[in-house]
Amino acid sequence: MSDTVRSDALVFFGATGDLAYKKIFPSLQAMIRRGNLDVPVIGVAKAGWNLDQFRARARDSVDKHGGVDEAAFAKLVSLLRYVDGDYADAATFAALRRELGGSAHPAHYLAIPPSLFGPVVEQLQRAGCTAGARVIVEKPFGRDLASARQLNAILHSAFDEAHVFRIDHYLGKRPVHSMLFFRFANEFLEPLWNRTHVESVQITMAESFGVQGRGAFYEQVGTVRDVVQNHLFQVLCNLAMEPPVRADSASIRDEKVKVLRAVATLDPASLVRGQFRGYRNEPGVAADSNVETFAAVKLAIDSWRWQGVPFYIRAGKCLPVTCTEVLLRLKRPPTMYPTCAAPPNHFRFRVSPDVTIALGTTVMDAAERAIGAQVELLASHHPDGREPDAYERVLGDAMAGDTTLFAREDYVEEAWRIVDPALAAAVPVHPYEPGQWGPPEVLRLAPPGGWNDPVVKA
Ligand code: BG6
Repeated sequence: MSDTVRSDALVFFGATGDLAYKKIFPSLQAMIRRGNLDVPVIGVAKAGWNLDQFRARARDSVDKHGGVDEAAFAKLVSLLRYVDGDYADAATFAALRRELGGSAHPAHYLAIPPSLFGPVVEQLQRAGCTAGARVIVEKPFGRDLASARQLNAILHSAFDEAHVFRIDHYLGKRPVHSMLFFRFANEFLEPLWNRTHVESVQITMAESFGVQGRGAFYEQVGTVRDVVQNHLFQVLCNLAMEPPVRADSASIRDEKVKVLRAVATLDPASLVRGQFRGYRNEPGVAADSNVETFAAVKLAIDSWRWQGVPFYIRAGKCLPVTCTEVLLRLKRPPTMYPTCAAPPNHFRFRVSPDVTIALGTTVMDAAERAIGAQVELLASHHPDGREPDAYERVLGDAMAGDTTLFAREDYVEEAWRIVDPALAAAVPVHPYEPGQWGPPEVLRLAPPGGWNDPVVKA
């Protein structure tokens, strides 16, 4: 199959599940609205449902997540098909093959637990559904290097790497992608963007809510596996990578992998784990759970550009705000005044809730004091809801065969290589009160100049 052939059907396993309800149906409606989806969409699940129940679920989903657009939804209904059955039963896949009809290039989206990838891929292959097909899978991809390798072996038994799409929806977020654009489209940035001028980089992903009923899932992952090893490493790569030699997918993904290869294995002493008080009372959570709902790490990138510059990542649930933000602090300029040094300049990128690019500068203050005043030059906007959602974007790209915004096999394995030893080291978990910036122990790991706690205006 040519890598740019469009998928002529979308099959999604786990069609009656949570992800389909929250993300997939709304994205499908949005794709139709933009004229980007006109192929059969076949849901597969074991729920004892029929097509009408499946359509009703789709309507409820879009109604609760953005609203029904009657024209686009009518089109979605006409495209929907449904196959009910067990993933271990060959009859389910024979029925799927019939529904696929003449489709030669289906995209199979496995919105199911990784433990089911093996049986589903094997059955797909036996039923003649993998030739010419693509496969789309969710993060986290495995729970360590060994399990990621096993999953890769399962997928590669039926699909070439070029046809495997490992979703990291952070890559589908426009402000994450635009960091790369901002870096490489502005001449003034490059001379500053290195160890000579940058003092430290910190990435914060704060969520003011808890695990929202996903306790059983969270128990299997914890913050490092849920968002640090994937979403936030992708942000790190966008900040740290070299300009790609070409704008194609392979060149861009090559540069990202190079960043991870240069990242030293995470030292357990550079990981702080926390758990919000009350987590252990969540449904699906063990009463003595040691799973972290907060993590802070300090990483070193041992490359020509970044050697000696510390990179910090901090993420957690039940923090004071919901916001994802990057702060890159520059070194202080030499001082003209013996008694006071100017504060460091910074670049600040906010991914959500608003989208901001800011440059922190020092100017003379009204009193003309030597210390000056800090002023941010700021470009900021609130997304108006018309931009494609991250899921819409990644699903559309996968069906078009564009792998740029997906995690490649070598990338995923490097990411696990970095965090594995620290995860295995049983680093203690410190409690924190909901609404705090993690446990007090995180101050021990603070960047020079301290953590920058994002402020979100109401
Ligand atoms: C998911 C994590 O991948 O990303 C969640 O599993 C997290 O725990 C979510 O809340 C955040 O994504 P977004 O797009 O809502 O910021």
